[in-house]
Amino acid sequence: WPDIARRVYAIRALQQEQDAVILAHNYMPPEVYALVGDIRGDSLALAREAARSEARTIVQAGVHFMAETSKILCPDKRVLIPDTRAGCSLASSISGAQVRELKRRYPGLPVVTYVNTSAAVKAECDICCTSSNALDVVEAIAAQWGVDRVIMLPDEHLARNVAARTDIAILVWQGSCEVHEQFTPAQVGAVRRHHPGVRVLAHPECPTGVLEAADFSGSTAALERWVDDHRPEQVLLLTECSMSDNLIARHPEIAFVRSCNLCPHMQRISLDGILASLAFGQHDVQVEEQIAIRARRAIEAMLALPA
Ligand code: 13P
Ligand code: SF4
Repeated sequence: WPDIARRVYAIRALQQEQDAVILAHNYMPPEVYALVGDIRGDSLALAREAARSEARTIVQAGVHFMAETSKILCPDKRVLIPDTRAGCSLASSISGAQVRELKRRYPGLPVVTYVNTSAAVKAECDICCTSSNALDVVEAIAAQWGVDRVIMLPDEHLARNVAARTDIAILVWQGSCEVHEQFTPAQVGAVRRHHPGVRVLAHPECPTGVLEAADFSGSTAALERWVDDHRPEQVLLLTECSMSDNLIARHPEIAFVRSCNLCPHMQRISLDGILASLAFGQHDVQVEEQIAIRARRAIEAMLALPA
């Protein structure tokens, strides 16, 4: 504890000196999330907060595509990511050139991209979505374009899970999240047998069979709200493990059944990394201007939809 307290104190002092805000994703390790996160939330909430923030520096306690999103929305601010290796298997599954090729193959169809993509990919797309608003975005863009088909990338599972809830046909890309694709319906069955009465909540990056076996699915913020509202005796969160750790702090009365997976990218962010980030101004996220202008259009098209 004395060591952790010293780091937190040093981070807070540097933050004040440099007018910095720390945006912490729900998957951050508990010491980062609870002790230094100024704004905590899912991808959508963090993008909205970045757009609203008045601080001169944003420290992104999350993965690289999130930091790029903040930089695109706040080009005049300094955006720092404590570890540049904090990537994402979805973001690395597709390039801007591959999106251009898709558009050549399917002309006249809008392209919806999950925010878990690089700026170069966003720049080629018409609108972004997050797991909170994917269904609304797909329906809104199809209505705007007057079409009954859209391209949605890069998460195959999220796209199929949205397709199951809409009449709009969705062309999917074969990307997946290395953390959520590992969950299986059999695992849900086994946990239910060992923990009768357990409520099972799943992130929509899980395969469709897993969502069908769950009681509820939604973004990390939606999962959190469900737990706050229902306060079940036992809950299984089929998502990144830190999500349960962070919720335990709020709900010590709930038994969180451990059957989760760690995201190696999210886990690269630590108190030490944040401290070094503020102390040495590392790593300053840059997005090439022409890419940023086009990517911003796609993000702003999403943010313009009703919350
Ligand atoms: P949320 O948008 O639900 O926060 O999810 C982001 C993410 O990376 C999930 O793996
Ligand atoms: Fe990417 Fe999956 Fe990690 Fe989220 S949990 S950052 S989607 S690899």
